[in-house]
Amino acid sequence: MKRFWLETYGCQMNKAESSALESEMLNAGWIPASFPEEADLVILNTCSVRATAEERIWGRLGRFKALKEKHPYTLVVMGCMAQRLKGAIQERFPAVDMVVGSFQKGAFSLMLGRAASGKRDAELAGFTGGEPFDASLLPDMRLQEEGRFSFAKRHAKKGDYKALVPIMHGCDNFCSYCIVPHVRGREVSREPKAVYAEIGELLEGGVKEITLLGQNVNSYRFGLRGGEEPSGAGERGPAEKRDFVDFPALIDGIFRRFPGLPWLRFLTSHPKDFSEALAERFSVYSGLCRHIHLPVQHGSDTILKAMNRQYTRSVYLSLVERIREKAPGVLLGTDILIGFPGETDRDFKETLTLMSEVQFDDAFTYYYNPREGTAACALEDTVPEKLKLERLKEVIDLQRGISAAKKRKRLGRTVKVLVEEVSKKKEGELLARTEGDEMVVFPGESSRIGGFATVHLEELRGATFYGREVPS
Ligand code: SAM
Ligand code: SF4
Ligand code: F3S
Repeated sequence: MKRFWLETYGCQMNKAESSALESEMLNAGWIPASFPEEADLVILNTCSVRATAEERIWGRLGRFKALKEKHPYTLVVMGCMAQRLKGAIQERFPAVDMVVGSFQKGAFSLMLGRAASGKRDAELAGFTGGEPFDASLLPDMRLQEEGRFSFAKRHAKKGDYKALVPIMHGCDNFCSYCIVPHVRGREVSREPKAVYAEIGELLEGGVKEITLLGQNVNSYRFGLRGGEEPSGAGERGPAEKRDFVDFPALIDGIFRRFPGLPWLRFLTSHPKDFSEALAERFSVYSGLCRHIHLPVQHGSDTILKAMNRQYTRSVYLSLVERIREKAPGVLLGTDILIGFPGETDRDFKETLTLMSEVQFDDAFTYYYNPREGTAACALEDTVPEKLKLERLKEVIDLQRGISAAKKRKRLGRTVKVLVEEVSKKKEGELLARTEGDEMVVFPGESSRIGGFATVHLEELRGATFYGREVPS
């Protein structure tokens, strides 16, 4: 039996792709190693979004190089850093046997499947015979120029109760600071039929929560020949025929096929493409989770323009207002990026005032990191690191206060939660999440994992609610 060790870094897209790979490997007879030392194959699925993400991988590679000196195994680097640095990874670490870019993942899992089914052609020797893998033997696996991306069929393992389902790949937005379009290429929308098929299988397998994934799901658009996909929500009467499926129509298509789907979410929404039609879907489908991640990045129009975000502060604020009208009670999350070149104290303060005005429920906060190859990298990085860190701290402190105040207001409510795992801190307690992705701890048996419960929220400790189960 061959064992694999898979480490995943970066965003949900990487997590989904790792799950797809893991599922294929398990089906092909590979088994997960309990620790790296016993693995025949080690795969690092990497991220390039910030320098710190890449530094972590270099550190891990140092560790895996040392491990290789003790026992032979195959070391593979895949994901965004593999795409960005290609051969430079092997130049720095010759211990790396194979570098798999963003557009070769499909072929990679296929090859593993063939290896596990006993096909011992020369190219597969490394995966079947225990010899370290020689990447030069696999011409079609060598890094090529960007091709058309092909989606895996399934992104979850048997027994999973929540799943990430990519519906798009790549990004066309070219925010000036961001490496993603450079490592993932142009936007490609996945065929609706494939999305429905995967969701159908997941629901049959007991999955309760599905997250549709893309760097900008709002620009999903799949062209159909013959206009076979009806679109429009139920309230619009007879479905009109269109020759493409956009994001609201995809949501309609999903709920029309699976009206009992308990929880459907989507990530990430770009504010410039969040349509009225999408906001309306929240009043049509109760299974659509009232939780939207809507990255604003900054509060100053000057910086938003320099970032190439393609909306202004006031456009963003009115979008939030419209969303809250159509989806009362919705929880809003965001990303904040401070320290962009040219950010003045006044620009920075505008971010703080925007945060106070919107009252986000949660926020991921970052300070700007120049990324080679992006438009902003040519600009002088004017905000000194010390000031970036001070500003970041202010943003974090402000958001902590807002999040805590908003959570305190929800104490005393009764909410539906999806049970995720047993608490590591205290025996007999379960960890669960609300529709708004908030953590809830309550007493219960491990047999409840993967199911829903109704919980009365009684106490708040840090960002976590504590409560007790009540009849639904
Ligand atoms: N597609 C999503 C959107 O438009 O908001 C975001 C995807 S990106 C992987 C996640 C977050 O990383 C961004 O929202 C941004 O705040 C942050 N980020 C991207 N590039 C960065 C950089 N060069 N330095 C620091 N943070 C960065
Ligand atoms: Fe990056 Fe902007 Fe695309 Fe998001 S929308 S992935 S921040 S370029
Ligand atoms: Fe990182 Fe690539 Fe995601 S750069 S954030 S893993 S798209």
